[in-house]
Amino acid sequence: MPKSRVGVLISGRGSNMAALLYASRAEDCPYEVVLVAANDPDAPGLALAAAEGVPTFARAHQGLKRAEFDAIIDAELTRAGCDHVALAGYMRLLSPEFVAKWQGRMVNIHPSLLPAHKGLHVHEAVLAAGETVSGCSVHLVTPELDDGPVLGQTRVVVLPGDTPDTLAARILIAEHQLYPRVLAALVQSRTSPDALLARVRQLALALPEAEEKLSHGSLGFFVRGGKFFAYFSYDHHHDGVTGLLVKASGVEEQAQLIENDPGLYYRPAYLGPSGWIGIRLDTGDNDWQHIEDWLTRSWRASAPKRMAMLPF
Ligand code: GRF
Repeated sequence: MPKSRVGVLISGRGSNMAALLYASRAEDCPYEVVLVAANDPDAPGLALAAAEGVPTFARAHQGLKRAEFDAIIDAELTRAGCDHVALAGYMRLLSPEFVAKWQGRMVNIHPSLLPAHKGLHVHEAVLAAGETVSGCSVHLVTPELDDGPVLGQTRVVVLPGDTPDTLAARILIAEHQLYPRVLAALVQSRTSPDALLARVRQLALALPEAEEKLSHGSLGFFVRGGKFFAYFSYDHHHDGVTGLLVKASGVEEQAQLIENDPGLYYRPAYLGPSGWIGIRLDTGDNDWQHIEDWLTRSWRASAPKRMAMLPF
């Protein structure tokens, strides 16, 4: 399985970038850092990344409109072949276009237990409020600042006598451990067969009277009293592919689909001649609505007539 390619955006010290980078050096880490980019050419983290042999890019944002600057960064991420972006102390608000482009594939780390204490001056606010526990959060980036779904958190105790600096320093230790772990889990959830099967199973079994059972070594989904409507195919006969097999209308449609999008569709062994179509799930960029639509369509084609007409 190729490693996910991560671009890290920084504005300063870059200690979280370093934590992501050094974690990626473990053989079983599912991502690699392929670019470190900064909106400040003097960001100290750039020198470390360069010394570690990671390609870097820097451009001062002054004088450029937000969307213009983000387009420059986006072009660099794309050039480097990034499939995920990690913000690590990146002190820039992002344009809606940039956020939309990387939605679900861009994460940020924030030194509080979100949703508490978004924005700046977090540790001061925690201490002023007399809180006894703080921590850090990794979240998906959405248009609102520090607001996307939280993927992981670590709690850090507030000690009597803590200052913003001493609290920040302890939370930073937690950040360095949390970030690589959460990023690894995120990139893995996009390609690991277990995670993909869990998602397919959830969608398939949500259809009326759907059940699952093993069939010729693959997990199949069928309609009670009806036929199979989908199979989860994992490295079937060592083809190295994780995919979903569903019913197309016949071999003509199957050929058409493959011709139009050969990166997504394929002709499955055995079921191919009967007009089934394979949809790759291991591209790292699944459109789950599209997959749900195919499952529904295939379910309708397989359910007993009285059920296939049901609206749902
Ligand atoms: C970290 O505390 C991070 O949570 C916040 O900015 C700081 C960046 O530090 N978003 P570094 O540049 O990673 O050392």
